[in-house]
Amino acid sequence: MGIFGEILHKLFGFTLPERAAKNAYLVDDLYNAVLLLSILGFLGLMSVMVFFALRYHRSQNEKSAYIPHNALAETIWTVIPTIIFVGISLWGLWAYFEKEKLPEDALIVKVTGKQWAWEYTYSKDGQEFSTVGDMYLPIDKPVILEMTSLDVIHSFFIPSFRAKRDTVPGMISKMSFTPTELGNFNVFCTEFCGTSHSKMRSNVRVVREERFNKWINRQIKEANISDPVELGFRIYNNNCATCHSVDGSRVVGPSFKGIWGNNRQFESESDLVVNAEYIRESIVNPQAKIVKGYTAQKMNSFAGQFSEKELGYIVEYLKTLK
Ligand code: CUA
Repeated sequence: MGIFGEILHKLFGFTLPERAAKNAYLVDDLYNAVLLLSILGFLGLMSVMVFFALRYHRSQNEKSAYIPHNALAETIWTVIPTIIFVGISLWGLWAYFEKEKLPEDALIVKVTGKQWAWEYTYSKDGQEFSTVGDMYLPIDKPVILEMTSLDVIHSFFIPSFRAKRDTVPGMISKMSFTPTELGNFNVFCTEFCGTSHSKMRSNVRVVREERFNKWINRQIKEANISDPVELGFRIYNNNCATCHSVDGSRVVGPSFKGIWGNNRQFESESDLVVNAEYIRESIVNPQAKIVKGYTAQKMNSFAGQFSEKELGYIVEYLKTLK
């Protein structure tokens, strides 16, 4: 906990959140020292003030002594705080550079912030894959994050690692740490980035190396899937499944069961046989044709969220839903 942390804990029951990375003590020690100094300074100042107010209290008609200055007192109250404050800033500078050091032979993970999720990109033996959700890391292995943003400024923060840095569009910012505890740790976005800023949460899962290697191998295998139906199913599952069933049941929107080649009836447009053109339009511009019986226009446009290739995969998957 560090000497200052110990004192704060003993005197005031104060502790910082759990610490799970090697260099986190750099932040904690500095924070605890400044906090302790502030508390002691406050208490010292207040007690001297109260003491002077009582000890040197005079009634209204008495005249105060004329004291223009006191060289000794002025020297003391200039020199001591100067030493303290310069000391704190040098300490801070040192801790900053210590934390900035990028280790060699580190695991590199690319982090991309976007409204409103964190995407993690790993590479192994020249193969890359990306995942949204949890960031897996092996314990006791130095990590370098290479971070950027697709839209606005976000800020990547893992409190338990005492690691935080902005992700800026068009720029790569780097951050390094070494996880030292197994478990799950919160990731937050700490830069207000739009309406769903508070939902930009994620997890770091620190696991043993064997488990990490297993996970990464599985992910690479998954990333190599090239069957368009399977890929289409994945896109459906991640984006459409909450509102569109595939078993004929009515959720928010119409079910996809037997959709391909089906004769669709609409609220105001004339009927058509479902084809790729119609599926594409319904994804990009859902308001263009409202299926009969579904008056509410509940779906937002997915324009720009899927590549042409991905739109093709979705069509291939929908074709299989008999
Ligand atoms: Cu991203 Cu706040």
